[in-house]
Amino acid sequence: MAKAGANPSGEVEQITVLLVDDIAETRESIRKLLSFEPDFKVIGSVGTGKEGVEAAKQLKPSIIIMDINMPDMDGIQATSLINQAVPTAAVIIMSVQNDQDYLRRAMLAGARNFLSKPVMPDELYNTIRTVYKQHQTYRETFTQIKEGGAVEQKKAVAAMTGVEDRPGHIIVVYSPQGGVGSTTIATNLASGLMKEGVRVLLVDSDVQFGDVGVYLNLPAQTSMLDLVDTVSDLDIDLFDKIVVSHESGLKVLLGPTRPEMADPIVQNPAVISQIIQKIANNYDFIVVDTARHLDDIVLSLFEIAAKIVLVSLPTLASVKNTKYVLDLFDQLGFDASRNMLVLNRVPTDKNSQKFMVSTERIEKFLKLPVTLSIPTDDVTVLQSMSKGVPIVAQRDRSKSPVREFMQLADQLHATLMPESVDQSADKDKPEEKKSRLPLNLRFGKA
Ligand SMILES: Nc1ncnc2c1ncn2[C@@H]1O[C@H](COP(=O)(O)OP(=O)(O)O)[C@@H](O)[C@H]1O
Ligand SMILES: [Mg+2]
Repeated sequence: MAKAGANPSGEVEQITVLLVDDIAETRESIRKLLSFEPDFKVIGSVGTGKEGVEAAKQLKPSIIIMDINMPDMDGIQATSLINQAVPTAAVIIMSVQNDQDYLRRAMLAGARNFLSKPVMPDELYNTIRTVYKQHQTYRETFTQIKEGGAVEQKKAVAAMTGVEDRPGHIIVVYSPQGGVGSTTIATNLASGLMKEGVRVLLVDSDVQFGDVGVYLNLPAQTSMLDLVDTVSDLDIDLFDKIVVSHESGLKVLLGPTRPEMADPIVQNPAVISQIIQKIANNYDFIVVDTARHLDDIVLSLFEIAAKIVLVSLPTLASVKNTKYVLDLFDQLGFDASRNMLVLNRVPTDKNSQKFMVSTERIEKFLKLPVTLSIPTDDVTVLQSMSKGVPIVAQRDRSKSPVREFMQLADQLHATLMPESVDQSADKDKPEEKKSRLPLNLRFGKA
């Protein structure tokens, strides 16, 4: 009986397997085990990681059983190279090491599953058959586009993941001062941009004291730290395992959980922009919350931004700091048309307003129009934070400051995607709550 299905002529559809292990006896014993079942066919057997990559390219097996510890190149690196060069092949890592860190690294390198040594026959058979099935769509898609160029490949991947080639507009929210409302605005902007069919990613680039996870009440199991080492091999499959889902459907890439863990990113400050650029075309909008320091992390994000939302308070100190930032942008030769100015925590009572700088004066001083003034509303803001639900998720969107947050989202949507802006018929309709998406994590609970 054919285990992997039979083709129309009744022959058994064989799963082609490549074995990569530096110990010849191990390869031999697996080859023997596989020979007992009619649906497996070992088409190659090599002893090093490098040979494994070469054999994978030449033989194009469906499954590769890969040892971790090997001389010239270890199994994790080989997996990563194979994942790039031969996407039709699915790698199963085989190792005596059972520790989470290894498994996690192997998974990040693109391994589909694991076997621990010594391998039991049934486990071997089941794992291969399961992975073969799981990898079917990949295999078929990439086989079809074998001769196709990069464009076809991109299209095929998009079709496979169910995502079209999206524009990936990057919106960076920044304030040179803390406590001004960057995180509040970034979170609400991201939520406000979410509509039917619009995919939004929120990134917390405040790698030491990021608050996005707390504001949205998200579990902090995975973060951008998990992507730092693999950024050159990053694809959406891997990214989806690391990104966290808010119950509204919003995707969030969190920063490190503790300040002292931020070092790998501080040492490699462009890595967040590199990650974003790699996955940008899977999203319509990517909203990035930032820390207040003008460091290389923030600067590299400014470089890739389509819009930079500068948040300021209507106070002298805050406006002065914003002026310095705009001057710096000038010196760096940034295109000024990307800048947007948002005033936050604007007092609503006449008495306090007297002590604030007027919008007209701010606009004149900064030579930048105020896109939006968001009133102070401690009750709404605090309520939303304590519930972990964005302000814009509130039903009554005609009330301040919900209205202003929605206006900001609508305005950015209209500016960046003018062709897709609808007739605003359902503008005030409350967003339907989508069901909580499960975290698709197999090894994320370290
Ligand atoms: N429009 C607003 N009205 C009232 N409180 C606000 C408003 N915007 C932000 N806050 C509050 O100000 C504090 C700082 O906001 P946050 O978004 O964390 O600023 P930042 O990220 O710039 O440090 C938070 O306690 C937040 O609830
Ligand atoms: Mg913040």
